[in-house]
Amino acid sequence: MFYSQIMEAKSYIQSKVNRKPEIGIVLGSGLGAIVEAMENIETIPYETIPHFPHSNIQGHADQFVFGKIGNKEVVCMQGRFHYYEGFTMKQLTFPIYVLSQLGVKDLIVTNACGGINQDFEPGDLMIISDYINFLGDNPLIGDNDERLGPRFPDMTEAYNHELMDFAKDCANQLNIPYKTGVYALFNGPCYETAAEIRAFKALGADAVGMSTVPETMVANYLGMRVLGISCITNMATGIAKVKHSHEKVLEVANNSSAKLCEWVQYMVENWK
Ligand code: HPA
Repeated sequence: MFYSQIMEAKSYIQSKVNRKPEIGIVLGSGLGAIVEAMENIETIPYETIPHFPHSNIQGHADQFVFGKIGNKEVVCMQGRFHYYEGFTMKQLTFPIYVLSQLGVKDLIVTNACGGINQDFEPGDLMIISDYINFLGDNPLIGDNDERLGPRFPDMTEAYNHELMDFAKDCANQLNIPYKTGVYALFNGPCYETAAEIRAFKALGADAVGMSTVPETMVANYLGMRVLGISCITNMATGIAKVKHSHEKVLEVANNSSAKLCEWVQYMVENWK
């Protein structure tokens, strides 16, 4: 059932565009500028694709953008789905299964998140070294379809070490400063409490956000290599001196977007 839904979505997309993307890029809130670096663009709105969820969150356009960066075929997800919108983990990761069927081997996941590590500051870009799932849910729960992946997928390199090193080399060549850290998944939609942030910090989290981890799990399950880059848009509750606002998150993400875009563009052009 799930498998045939994935295939129907794939067939629909292939009936609309003749593209063979190798790299998928999931764009976080306010981080859409990467699309401007793409050439020969073709878009497919999610709402037209069979079995696709769709969301209304501000800052997302909700479409696949196929195109080229250098000589690499890429597909961007402009708009992603979140647990706090009421989607199940299975629904919100559905696009990743479809990307895999379209031929995507490597996935770059980006997001806007809150900084817990006190060496961070808003506007910083962070290579995600690992995740902690504080959500108590997992997209791979349920019957396993061996055609897609193994029952018990390994997460030793949830974020591929070779890609992390590659991202660091590229950032150094471009003189783009970066941090490295562990991303904690919180369900939202409320921001965390100060006590929750103290707990997450004690447990080893450097940053906290409401996305990315489900896609990372499924991409690993499907055999993709994943690179994660976060934009620290604010310091987390209790560390920040001010209350949170989604507008501020989008503003800071937009301001860092050009730097992230330059970085991703350079990486994709030199991809290994
Ligand atoms: N917490 C959770 N998610 C976020 C935050 C935060 O502080 N900032 C941006 N996304």
